[in-house]
Amino acid sequence: MKKVLINECKAVFPALSRNESISRSIAAAFLLQCDPTVEETAAVKTAVSEAVTNAIVHGYRNSKGYVEMLMKLFDNNTVYIRIKDKGAGIADVKAAMEPMFTTAPADEERSGLGFTVMENFMDKVRVRSVLGEGTTVTLEKKIGGKPLDKR
Ligand SMILES: Nc1ncnc2c1ncn2[C@@H]1O[C@H](COP(=O)(O)OP(=O)(O)O)[C@@H](O)[C@H]1O
Ligand SMILES: [Mg+2]
Repeated sequence: MKKVLINECKAVFPALSRNESISRSIAAAFLLQCDPTVEETAAVKTAVSEAVTNAIVHGYRNSKGYVEMLMKLFDNNTVYIRIKDKGAGIADVKAAMEPMFTTAPADEERSGLGFTVMENFMDKVRVRSVLGEGTTVTLEKKIGGKPLDKR
């Protein structure tokens, strides 16, 4: 059966580190309508902040720009969050998603575990990227067991 879109919300903000925590709160606020558990909320907030941080620190490392966060809720209780930047892009997505891979300078102490964290906390993580054009990360997670109309 085809899933039906119940609600959606888009946020666009400049690539400033102060927007990392704001993006977490926006995601948590959107999620509230599915009556998530504390663990589900924490998982989504963590994955979103990894993706948004990447857009800010890697995507826009040498440039300025905006990060777009599009959230969708479907009737099968699945939340879909797409984080998009028009920054540097990734040369090799498969390599970038390997645990411990980082292109950040050593003094920044990045773990290289951002994508691994996203994959552990979400059901699906998809990455599309074009070098010089930007990166789109799509996170998906099914929330709770109860059908939405019983919530
Ligand atoms: N939005 C993005 N734009 C450009 N490069 C990115 C983006 N997201 C991830 N990357 C690349 O993928 C690598 C791995 O990301 P991640 O697993 O989050 O580790 P970390 O952020 O600690 O380096 C980054 O070091 C960077 O090279
Ligand atoms: Mg990261």
